[in-house]
Amino acid sequence: MAFDMERLPGFRDFYPEPAPHPDLWSADARQFVFERWRATARRYGFREYDGPPLEPLELYTLKSGEEIVGQLYNFIDKGGRSVALRPEMTPTLARMAAAHERNYKKPLKWFAIPQLFRYERQQKGRLREHFQFNADILGEAGPAADAELIALLIDALKAFGLTQEDFEVRVSSRDVWREFFTMSNLDESKSYEFFQIIDKLDRQEDSLSATKLAALNISYEEVLRFIDTSAPTQQISLITENLAARDLRKFVRVDYGVIRGLAYYTGTVFEAFDLKGKFRAIAGGGRYDNLLDLISGGKVDLPALGFGMGDVVLLELLKARGLLPKFDGPIEFFYLIEDETLRAESLRRVQYWRDQGHAVEYPLTPAKPDKQFKRAQELKARFILRLERAAGGQLTEKRKDPASRVEEVAVILTAGRDSVEP
Ligand code: HAM
Repeated sequence: MAFDMERLPGFRDFYPEPAPHPDLWSADARQFVFERWRATARRYGFREYDGPPLEPLELYTLKSGEEIVGQLYNFIDKGGRSVALRPEMTPTLARMAAAHERNYKKPLKWFAIPQLFRYERQQKGRLREHFQFNADILGEAGPAADAELIALLIDALKAFGLTQEDFEVRVSSRDVWREFFTMSNLDESKSYEFFQIIDKLDRQEDSLSATKLAALNISYEEVLRFIDTSAPTQQISLITENLAARDLRKFVRVDYGVIRGLAYYTGTVFEAFDLKGKFRAIAGGGRYDNLLDLISGGKVDLPALGFGMGDVVLLELLKARGLLPKFDGPIEFFYLIEDETLRAESLRRVQYWRDQGHAVEYPLTPAKPDKQFKRAQELKARFILRLERAAGGQLTEKRKDPASRVEEVAVILTAGRDSVEP
């Protein structure tokens, strides 16, 4: 029977470049994205953490909200525990920070790049697995932390060459919506339902949003008016002034249409979008000042905020803008073995150069010299090395630059003795 095992829908294989097909995902591009995320986080003084990919189901049913709970990959493990693959990192972070926050100076500035799993309806930019850059600040309640985090978000996108023409960060506040909610005399138990409707305004038919709002006794027009006319709160003004001092204000727009789908957000919320509006949200985040208290059962009460940026939309966007570099295998030296009697000595030299930190490739099995040379060129090796034995038995290592085809003696070696540097 033919082996015809397909991967699960919504999951990805990552291939080394050049990928066999343009629709396949590139392991090199993924690594490139991770490196830029890490470097930007470090520039902002963030430290890396990680947690388990499998967590108790309860961690998410507690406060992530129905939408994400409906998308969980959950099951009963062999010990009878209800568990779930992590759909997001924030509850894990809250649990980890609550357990050991006393050992760290505040504020904590932590980042992670977890792989997350959500049983989502498949659509452009949304898969059932993705990697997400998470950056969070814990232990600082003031707007300076909000601004610091939004600045990091902006710089994380700028690090890929994206500009003011490519994206914007829309900043809003759940406090503002809470006021609206209170003014509308709505029952607190309906607030999550209400936030969900607002979160989907852009993605849902107007008539459907209007019907859902009407069921809560809220007029759709009133909501639109509120989004259009509300002035920035003092909190948001402080954030935008802080960003202006860094010359990052131009990347930000105050937009009360943003409210975020997750249940735990409290104050400032924000999302990053591409300005051509062709892609789903690139990133989203906000304050969740009550989550640690809730997850620690009242033992630890730390204000917190953060964001998550997925790799799926970001890679689609970078591809569309031509901002992904061409990835070559980073081979520096190709070691030709033209004379099989020199294989052992050649291997010794390969090992020597690798010990020195260089990326070295060589033919695993005997091959014709022109084949080897072709392979070296395919690998774009910076130099081609080979051993040559002189009539007197002396060994020399020769180094050729394949671009200029100039070959020179790099090292004179004496057979049988340890390699000597020139
Ligand atoms: P989120 O809005 O659910 O927030 O996800 C953040 C980002 O992850 C999205 O903007 C998107 O780029 C990416 N993303 C989410 N779901 C998928 C999916 N199914 N496929 C591809 N990409 C996806 C959170 O997860 C919060 N925990 C973020 C956060 C951190 N808030 C505070 N700290």
